Amino acid sequence: MSLSRVENPCFLLFLLVFQAIFILILYQGGPSNVFRGFLESHQIQDYSKTHDVYTNLSFFTQAPNEEAMPYCSVQSPIFVGPLTVTFRVLPSERMIIQKNPLVQSGGRYRPPHCLAHYKSAILVAYRNQEKYLRHLLYYLHPFLQRQQLSYSIYLIQQMGNGTFNRAKLLNVGVREALKDEDWDCLILHDVDLVPENDYNLYVCDEYYPKHMASAMDKFQYNLPYKSFFGGVSALTPEHYMKMNGFPNTYWGDDGENDDIATRIQLAGMKIVRTPSHLGRYRVMDYKKETEIQESWRRPASRHNTRKTWKDDGMNSLEFKLLSRRKHPLYTNITVDIGYVPPFS
Ligand SMILES: *[C@@H]1O[C@H](CO)[C@@H](O)[C@H](O)[C@H]1NC(C)=O
Ligand SMILES: *[C@@H]1O[C@H](CO)[C@@H](O)[C@H](O)[C@H]1NC(C)=O
Ligand SMILES: *[C@@H]1O[C@H](CO)[C@@H](O)[C@H](O)[C@H]1NC(C)=O
Repeated sequence: MSLSRVENPCFLLFLLVFQAIFILILYQGGPSNVFRGFLESHQIQDYSKTHDVYTNLSFFTQAPNEEAMPYCSVQSPIFVGPLTVTFRVLPSERMIIQKNPLVQSGGRYRPPHCLAHYKSAILVAYRNQEKYLRHLLYYLHPFLQRQQLSYSIYLIQQMGNGTFNRAKLLNVGVREALKDEDWDCLILHDVDLVPENDYNLYVCDEYYPKHMASAMDKFQYNLPYKSFFGGVSALTPEHYMKMNGFPNTYWGDDGENDDIATRIQLAGMKIVRTPSHLGRYRVMDYKKETEIQESWRRPASRHNTRKTWKDDGMNSLEFKLLSRRKHPLYTNITVDIGYVPPFS
């Protein structure tokens, strides 16, 4: 005696699964939508077809009634995915200002057509890299506007000839930026990196520090090593304070990034990452970068982060603010960060 087909438990399960899939498709607006979704997700990672970063930016014009402005759409209507990035021609400052008429003094921008969901401060540690800076501004301003963000770009400039201290400069940037505004998100950005996809959102993860430069061209669009936290990252002010900011005591090499990754863990958090098909970056001056690539290898830890992190960071930050000026494209904060070990 054999069971009839309908009573066969396998067949019943099959029917159930089939029904669930059918309902899911209906719920999403029919199979054509599923197909379109697939097409779109293919397009946003097709790097053989790139678009100009200024494409359709002029769609965002002043709303007639500023009082009754709606919130911005969750997904920007002008996203294109992969962007064309080239460093062959150095854009002039005047041209960048002209192409970004809605950017206000100090590098401040708010969408003219809607209320932004996020306010992000972009912090760039800087010294005498005028060409990098200009390329960066040319790409970053329209990139951030595409994402309908309220944002400001800060340059934190180290005075003098001493050894560069990126981490300490970023601590200074965070403290100074939070005097201006209650930022939702702090984006810590190297001056020589340009994002290649406008779906790489410059907003924070709610729970954890987010590493965004997960695929740089100079590392063949991979991570150089597993705990890598360099290039571009996004932390909320809460994340930043919870880990006591960045160490003030790393001079010169890139060791601070490993200290930072360790701090994140010691403060009970973990690193989340932008997926590598979106977190793609072009590095400027490729040739020079490969020359000094040695220092990008995971450096041996010289500091005992576990012992030092609670005493070395935002709570021990000392510096002298030399000037704070509003340039049309950024806020220029110049600091004396104190004792600088001489070049060895
Ligand atoms: C720019 O906007 C126009 C009009 O909506 C649209 O047809 C076109 O596809 C957009 N361009 C890109 C690259 O998305
Ligand atoms: C920086 O170096 C230049 C040339 O090496 C020198 O002329 C200048 O005085 C130095 N500036 C400081 C603040 O040490
Ligand atoms: C920033 O301000 C300082 C001090 O006023 C100035 O010397 C420097 O040239 C400025 N840097 C940039 C990139 O605007």
